[in-house]
Amino acid sequence: MDEFRYGDDGLQCEDVSLEALADAVGTPAYVYSRKMLDAAVHRFDQAFARVPHLVCYSIKANSNLTLLRRFIEWGIGFDAVSGGELYRAFRAGAAPKRVIFSGVGKTRDEIRYALNTDVLFISVESRAELDMISAIAVETGRVARVVLRANPHIDARTHPYISTGLKSHKFGIRIDEAPQLAQEAAAMPQVKVVGVGCHVGSQITALAPFKKAATSLRDLGRYLQYQGLELEYIDFGGGLGIPYGGEAPPTPEAYADALIGVGQDLGLTLVLEPGRAIVGTSGILLCRVIRRKSQGQKRFVIVDAGMNDLIRPPLYGSFHQLRPVRCREGKEVIDLVGPICESTDFLAEKRRTSRLQPDDLVAVMTTGAYGSVLASNYNSRPRPAEVLVDGRTFNIIRRRESYKDLIRLEE
Ligand code: LLP
Repeated sequence: MDEFRYGDDGLQCEDVSLEALADAVGTPAYVYSRKMLDAAVHRFDQAFARVPHLVCYSIKANSNLTLLRRFIEWGIGFDAVSGGELYRAFRAGAAPKRVIFSGVGKTRDEIRYALNTDVLFISVESRAELDMISAIAVETGRVARVVLRANPHIDARTHPYISTGLKSHKFGIRIDEAPQLAQEAAAMPQVKVVGVGCHVGSQITALAPFKKAATSLRDLGRYLQYQGLELEYIDFGGGLGIPYGGEAPPTPEAYADALIGVGQDLGLTLVLEPGRAIVGTSGILLCRVIRRKSQGQKRFVIVDAGMNDLIRPPLYGSFHQLRPVRCREGKEVIDLVGPICESTDFLAEKRRTSRLQPDDLVAVMTTGAYGSVLASNYNSRPRPAEVLVDGRTFNIIRRRESYKDLIRLEE
């Protein structure tokens, strides 16, 4: 389903003309389609419908409060990785029993927050962390339900910066050390081991790494059950890729079939932590051309969005399709760049596109995940507005920052 289509007024999101939207809210702006979000959530959740499962949307991919509220209405839970994300989840109205808490560097305060709010479970990544959780559980008089996040030493074959499942990564407990740690955890007074988990990377476009990781995790789960632990959950993490350009990632159904096939015989509730697969394709970054500039052989089109608004291209070398809101005659190869004082400030390099002139609008596609959340105020640029389109209407779900906002905390 693609709700970013060309109509009589050029590119639209659902039934809203992006030209009209830009006139109303300005640019740059992140624009999301409610229909696409709804479809992605329901399709993913539905794919696991035949087994006990809980989809915990990974808030880090896009933490906008309005989106989180919608996700609650649509019946999914959350994966939070910081106190701030827990706060957002609860402000959005999440039920604690549908929130899980993970992260490799949880602080004392964050662990206390998670225990006091009674989240479903805390995902543990090391012995030292387990000790800290145990101590805080005793101090607060709570029982800490923990899932051991194993590191299965699997190459996810994705970009090295978003790969997490190798021994050399900081994430998880080495899978061969997990049984020993599980026994120690089980002996701690106010700790209960309720499951096993893993997450091997993001933007994974093949089933094989998922299957391999799931099989290792299943074996670990089975072993712990055999040792007498009463597990309830097997958490397969996130990582399902989406098509940015030519990729053909597994469908949610194929992904679900693979995981269910491996995991179901343990009799546990499957937990999934998708981020990108839920929000990635549902959002665009809408920006306006400021001017053109040629430098030797190079043609630059300078727009009003920069790497502070979308850092994925320079950080991961990521590809985002460009769609001019109105297509002009003639194609050319350009670099789409921002106004920031860095040579890494590009949104697209050597891209063939229809000619873009000053004041034209252009959509940087597939930026719903890891777009707005990674935006910064670099060069003292106010962060973009965020807009949710629903049929013929749209609402601003995050105001554009003002110059005043930039200095609010410094006065
Ligand atoms: N669970 C854990 C433990 C994670 O570390 C992540 C992502 C997810 C779930 C969600 O993964 P997803 O389904 O979205 O692939 N900024 C990078 C992506 C970083 C992913 C970090 N962890 C990017 O823009 O590609």
